[in-house]
Parts: sequence; C-alpha cells; structure tokens
Amino acid sequence: MSTGRSFYITTPIYYPSDVPHIGHGYTTVAVDALARWHRQAGDDTWMLTGTDEHGQKMLRAASANGVTPQAWVDKLVSEAWFPLLRTLDVANDDFIRTTQERHEAGVKSFVQTLYDRGHIYAGEYEALYCVGCEEFKPDSEILDGTGAFEGLKVCAIHSRPLELLQEKNYFFKLSEFQEPLLRLYAENPDFVRPESARNEVISFVRSGLKDLSISRSAFDWGITVPWDESHVIYVWVDALLNYATAVGYGTDPETFERRWPAYHVVGKDILRFHAVIWPAMLMAAGLDVPRGVFGHGWLLVGGEKMSKSKATGISPSEIIDVFGSDAYRFYFLSAIAFGQDGSFSWEDLAARYQAELANGFGNLASRTIAMIERYFEGIVPPPAEYAEADLAVQKVVADAAVHADAAIERFRIDEAITSIWTIVDALNGYITENEPWALAKDDSRRARLGTVLYTAAEGLRALAVLLSPVTPIAAEKLWVALGAAESLGRLQDQPVREAGGWGVLTPGTSTNGLEPLFPRIDNA
Ligand code: ME8
Ligand code: MG
Repeated sequence: MSTGRSFYITTPIYYPSDVPHIGHGYTTVAVDALARWHRQAGDDTWMLTGTDEHGQKMLRAASANGVTPQAWVDKLVSEAWFPLLRTLDVANDDFIRTTQERHEAGVKSFVQTLYDRGHIYAGEYEALYCVGCEEFKPDSEILDGTGAFEGLKVCAIHSRPLELLQEKNYFFKLSEFQEPLLRLYAENPDFVRPESARNEVISFVRSGLKDLSISRSAFDWGITVPWDESHVIYVWVDALLNYATAVGYGTDPETFERRWPAYHVVGKDILRFHAVIWPAMLMAAGLDVPRGVFGHGWLLVGGEKMSKSKATGISPSEIIDVFGSDAYRFYFLSAIAFGQDGSFSWEDLAARYQAELANGFGNLASRTIAMIERYFEGIVPPPAEYAEADLAVQKVVADAAVHADAAIERFRIDEAITSIWTIVDALNGYITENEPWALAKDDSRRARLGTVLYTAAEGLRALAVLLSPVTPIAAEKLWVALGAAESLGRLQDQPVREAGGWGVLTPGTSTNGLEPLFPRIDNA
C-alpha cells in the first residue's frame, strides 16, 4: 500500500529525563490515530516519534545519577519510552534517538550546509539561559524571583533561576527570515494550525526576529560543530533536525525525497521552534518547509497545566491498567477539541467510558451479534427490501464517513469521532424502534428481521473500519465477531475512505461470539 500520496507525520521527540505522562501520551496517540487513518486510506504513510537526548538538562541529570549521559539515556529510553508506545498501542514506523549515528551524520551535514551558504557567523554572546527550556529566554519570559530566589531572574515557565551565559557562539541569521516566514504564513494559511496558534506565530514574527545562538562551548554532550571541535550544536537545532535525518537527510537521499516534507504535531509550548526556527532553517538550507505544524493545547489537571514538576503528573499506565488503551485513546481524542486545552479528571473519564464506550458502542455490538446468533444461528442474514428507516441508516453511515475523513484532513480527530458516533447513535435508535425481538416472534416477518439485523451488522462493519485508527483493539474484536476477517480480509487493509459504502459485509458470513468490548468497571 504505497501507491498513494506521501503522508509523513511526527510527534515531538521527548526529553527522556522526564517520566512519560499523559501529556506525552496525548500527542503520541493523536499522531498515531492520524497516521493509522492515512495508512488505512492507502496513503504512503510514515509515523515518526523519538527522544531528544542531548543538552545540558540531560547531562546534569546523568551526573546527578552518577552515570555517563549515554548510559543514562539508554536506560530511560529502554525502560520508560519504548514501553510507553506498547502501552498506548502506537504503530509508529520509526523511533529516532538523537544519539544515533544516522542523526549525528545528518545534523553535521545540515549545519555545514548552512555555514557554507553563509547563514552562520561567530559572535560573542551574553544572555540568560533556562536549562529546563534549553533556551535563551526573551525578555517577555523573564521574571524577578521572589522568596528563595529574591534578587535573581527566573524563568516564567519553570519558576527557576536563569543562568547568565557568556560565550563565544555561532549564530544562525534567523533575522533574515522574517519576511520569507511572513510570506509563508500568508501564502499557506494552513501552515500553522489551529487559527489561534497561527495568530500567535504571526504576531511573534512581526514583532521582529533576533539571530539565534546555535552552538555551545561550555559542555560537550552534543553533536560537534563540524568546523569547530570546541563547540557542540545547540540542542534545539539538533532536535528539530530529527525530522529530516530520520527519513534519510544526509544519508539516504532517495528516502528523503520520498517522505519529505512532514506534518508536525506539537504541544503549543514548542510551537515557535517548529513554526518559526525550523522552517527558517530549512529555507536557509534550500529545502522544502514542512507541510504544516499543528499546535495542540494543554492537558490540565485540577485547572493547571499537568506537569511532572508540579506533581500533577499522571502516567498513562495508571489509566490503561484500569480502562485499557482503547479507552485512553478514545477519551483524550474525543473529549478535547484538538487545538484547545482540555481538563482531565477521573470522573469525566469514567463517565464517558460508561456512557459512550460501554453503553453506546459496546452494547450495540454485543446485542447485534447476540441477536444474529439467536435468530439466525450466527449467520449474517441477507437484507430484503429496504424501507425508509434502513435507507436513513445508510445515509448516516455514508455522511459520517465523508465528514470524518474531512475532519481528519483538518487534524480534527475529535470532530471525526463525533461524526463516527452519529452511526452509533443512529443504530441504537434504529434497533430500539425496529424491535428485532418483536419481529422474531412473528414468522411472517422473518425477511424484515433479516433486513434489520443486516442493517445493524453492516453499520457495525462501517464502525469497525472507521474506529480502527482510534480504538484498534475493540475494532479488531468487532471485525472478528462479524466474521469479516474471513470474508473481507484484515481490518487494517479496509480502505477507510470507502467505509461509508453499503452492502460490503457478505450475507451468509458466520459471526463469532463477542465478549463485552468495554466491560463494566467497578469503583471507577
Ligand atoms: O519539548 N499537555 O520535549 P518534552 C499536552 N524535547 N501535551 C503535553 C503536556 C501537557 N500538559 N506536557 C507535555 C520537548 N506535552 C523537546 C521537543 S521536538 C524537536 C523537541 C507534550 O519532553 C506536548 O507534545 O518537554 C509537548 O509539546 C511535548 O510533550 C513536550 O515534550
Ligand atoms: Mg517540556
């Protein structure tokens, strides 16, 4: 399935020194759902995630633990970050680590290119640095410290003292890209989404860009500047380049040509790096800018941005151990408008699990399969003549599939799920109104009973296909229960853009028993 258009999508590469929490999990499952959708549509899809392993933050954490930085990141990545992907059921195509050879080679060649093209110069630098952000802070994010930090300057994000750095640095002439960037945003209104993120980026760039310090000489945990061994490349320049090096920049031109450019999905904390610095770096190198950058909102816990440092951190496995990975994915992707902040609470999660997954979708699947078993010995009946109510269901299914695909094109996974859920609601209403259990008591209405149960089963077939990117485990169980695996092949091969067609499930197919897709959870 590589005949379609290229769809390359990335998550940020996370700092492995943090314990994975539901914020990282949120971005990752969103990207995975988008990638699964496109893959299932036949697009030439590639999903990348990874870890950002250089920089001062990592170096300090390693020394605090008495190990080398490489040993430190190796341990964290294998013990926490690889397992996170399995916990969340993520089907990433690649995982890049910035300490890998392929990355280091590509970064050196990119930075050398910028140097050769005259975009880099040496200069003296003195500025306030936040190790938490790994960034020289602009005045707008510098506050006067209070309490224990009285008299010091602190970072507005981390509330920790900033460090005054005085070094000889290499600079990237970012200031020269103000006009080209503004032109990019104007000519390609979807370059930064959603609208609020786009506006923020445009006003930031309009207010003027300073050249960017892109090397450090005070420590050596990083990639060496190719023309000056005494410097390492600034960790953000190193990190952003992962998106290019992972698909062969500097090592495999054919793959790079096939995959690049990418879509980037990031939290709004790191929007400027992706929507300002990164496209400017690419323009300077003479490469295509990304196809787009989507900045999503914060997960809030108790009204505050969830973070490990504020002790509001929740690990994905706490949720998955109770509710399962499908529920995790469904909850975060449906309950929060993608692009806006969203509050997490256990009560809201439990309520939506029960109402939408268990009572809405799970119950619909169980009772439809059970009635086919009871009334037709587990053989999907043929439909007879369609009545108005049946045709109405067919229209809901067709519309839902079209709207869901359009929503996914806009990266609005939440809206796609809302559209898909119109099928769940329509089928539940349809079964209530058509009372198959009453039809079953009257032999003369057997053909009608067949039509009603075929309609329900075929609606479920569409649901399995459409929900597979979001809740892959439940969708697969339903697919098997419908007997579709034998007659139609693997679920992940069903073209999602054609899911809204009718009459796909073959009458005569044998169903298989279905355990509750979303079992009752006590004390949740
Ligand atoms: O910034 N709500 O890595 P990081 C929603 N290494 N998403 C959240 C979140 C929250 N409360 N907290 C974290 C870095 N995230 C750099 C990136 S990319 C070239 C380098 C998610 O480990 C969100 O995607 O701090 C955010 O952008 C990312 O984690 C930051 O991860
Ligand atoms: Mg962070």
